[in-house]
Amino acid sequence: MEKVVAVIMVGGPTKGTRFRPLSFNTPKPLFPLAGQPMIQHPISACKRIPNLAQIFLIGFYEEREFALYVSSISNELKVPVRYLKEDKPHGSAGGLYYFRDMIMEENPSHIILLNCDVCCSFPLPDLLEAHKRYGGMGTMLVIKVSAESAHQFGELIADPNTKELLHYTEKPETFVHTHYSSSNCEVSDLINCGVYVFTPDIFTAIQGVLTHREDRANIRQVSSFEAFQSATRTLPVDFVRLDQDILSPLAGKKQLYTYETTDFWEQIKTPGMSLKCSSLYLALFKITSPQLLASGNGITSATIAGDVYIHPSAKVHPTAKVINISSSSSILSSAIGPNVSISANVRVGAGVRLISCIVLDDVEIKGNGDYNAKLGITILGEAVTVEDEVVVINSIVLPNKVLNVSVQEEIIL
Ligand code: GDD
Repeated sequence: MEKVVAVIMVGGPTKGTRFRPLSFNTPKPLFPLAGQPMIQHPISACKRIPNLAQIFLIGFYEEREFALYVSSISNELKVPVRYLKEDKPHGSAGGLYYFRDMIMEENPSHIILLNCDVCCSFPLPDLLEAHKRYGGMGTMLVIKVSAESAHQFGELIADPNTKELLHYTEKPETFVHTHYSSSNCEVSDLINCGVYVFTPDIFTAIQGVLTHREDRANIRQVSSFEAFQSATRTLPVDFVRLDQDILSPLAGKKQLYTYETTDFWEQIKTPGMSLKCSSLYLALFKITSPQLLASGNGITSATIAGDVYIHPSAKVHPTAKVINISSSSSILSSAIGPNVSISANVRVGAGVRLISCIVLDDVEIKGNGDYNAKLGITILGEAVTVEDEVVVINSIVLPNKVLNVSVQEEIIL
């Protein structure tokens, strides 16, 4: 029986800094989206892969930051989830290689590799099937984006018929213009989603990069000690980037293929994107896990409309309106809007209106206030208290603050 293992690259505290201040208390991969830690969405998707043996999270966060989470999710999903800590950053491919012996322990035929900070429907069984049909070393999930935004990602050109990855450039300064036939010049609008399947040959490819680097370093060392030093200072010899060091050089060599998703896909780099991704996952729950979405009648429980997640331990006053509708402006006029998720031990008081927000653990929101301003993105950190009649608009509030005056467009440190 062919076994599959999944690896999620979670990075470490020095990565993902654009996500601050949300990642001050919680490592970014554990920040809740639609009421679940960011990495739980890909983890749940892995569960749908036939013959999944293990899920590894690889990063350079302290072990204790993930210990509780990996033990609870392993129990819940009945799949072993292990956190493997690098002693230092080795890069997206170097980190994988560092733990090759553990990853290969159960002799898997395929390795699913996922970035922790992408939001999509993770069509992993389909990706795996496509990969087996193509017969290469790796297959990458790709998506079409506007040609103007493609350069912010790994931009690529694929053969329209065979789906082979022909050309790959990581975050290029200019668009990828490539002549593949004498008649047409293509401008790329396909990008790398950060979701892959590889055969174990990926380790041989990474090993190849490392050996080549060591050889070059040795030559440099002999010819010029200074040159060697400057080369190693910019990139440690054991630091291997999946994009530039593996994908780019292997493009066009019949080893890498692409599988296009037409579902949603987003990158989660900034606090604002967490709200967008939370709403995408809430909408996905309607299909995959409708039992996670809240309902209410407005009499014995709060009024609920649209996609809302409320943690079972949260206490929401029955007169609160936790309403989430997508586009109805008539309901918006009564200051009620889309996309709400409420975490553990939150208390929401009488008459409170919640619109488009993620409310973190232990937050307390008291009575209602006067709503007149335009709405924006608001993020309340853990254990924040919003006093009666205080309105918070388009602001980020760091953990443990008590707000007793209304704030608009502020970061409360
Ligand atoms: N364990 C570990 N160690 N993880 C790492 C390391 C490392 O040294 N470096 C990066 N990662 C993880 C990050 O946490 C992230 O999940 C993933 O590897 C890729 O991170 P980056 O290499 O910083 O790339 P990126 O996120 O800016 O862009 C990548 O993803 C895009 C899709 O979101 C690229 O692959 C792009 O081509 C792609 O479009």
